Amino acid sequence: MCPQNRMSALNKPGKVFIVGAGPGDPELLTLKAARVLSECEVVLYDRLVAPAILELVRPGAELIYVGKHEGEQQRVQTQIFDLLLKHALEGKMVVRLKGGDPLVFGRGAEEWAVVRERGIEVELVPGVSSAIAVPGIAGIPLTFRDVSQGFAVLTGHCSAGLAMNWGAYADIDTLVVLMGVKHRAFIAQSLIAAGREPDEPVAFVERGATPEQNVVVATLRDVASGQVTVQNPAVMVIGQVVKVREKLLALLPEALRA
Ligand SMILES: C[S@@+](CC[C@H](N)C(=O)[O-])C[C@H]1O[C@@H](n2cnc3c(N)ncnc32)[C@H](O)[C@@H]1O
Repeated sequence: MCPQNRMSALNKPGKVFIVGAGPGDPELLTLKAARVLSECEVVLYDRLVAPAILELVRPGAELIYVGKHEGEQQRVQTQIFDLLLKHALEGKMVVRLKGGDPLVFGRGAEEWAVVRERGIEVELVPGVSSAIAVPGIAGIPLTFRDVSQGFAVLTGHCSAGLAMNWGAYADIDTLVVLMGVKHRAFIAQSLIAAGREPDEPVAFVERGATPEQNVVVATLRDVASGQVTVQNPAVMVIGQVVKVREKLLALLPEALRA
């Protein structure tokens, strides 16, 4: 780059793309996300982003891991804000790459606001959310004629300390809980207390949309008793649609019944 162009690039802020990486299978990335990754200069990526997706990043681009572990969320989030601003203010094309869809329990909207407040351009590239795709890939449709007319997606994070209005979820046909593994017994107990049937089926789809996908099926009563073992990450699905999976699996050749 000649010095004159370098100068104007330095004066002009770059742009931040907030991009969804989908639930795990690299082929579930959107075409737009793949293009943006192939053109960008810096990528800030999360823990649940598949390594094969990072291989699509433009050679020479800077890859920065910003995954969060328990207890360090706020500190890392502050670093993420700082890194996004630093690189964008240097005139770079920055990708903030997040698992699933960036605006579903992903703090993508907060990052969008912080960047826009500094006058930097932002573009959202939505992703396939684990909330819908992971149950679906495991054979659990969130709606099904005569079984489920609708669904709600809720967080299980901080449930033990969070004053959730569990009664509001008592009559919704299908419930999908993200980040619910740790507090699964408390969530099940709260839903039973709010009026859901203890015999209602529950499925946990672990590591969905990856070769390690595993499905644990139980009842709300079993989960409430603390006897059901589940590995993170998992999507928890509560409702009669869990039984649809049995029908769909019965229609598959044996080799494909995961
Ligand atoms: C912080 S939330 C982010 C959700 C993400 N933005 C989305 O739209 O999928 C992380 C939670 O999503 C769920 N999750 C994400 N990817 C998953 C996968 N491949 N298999 C199972 N659960 C997944 C788990 O409940 C996990 O705890």
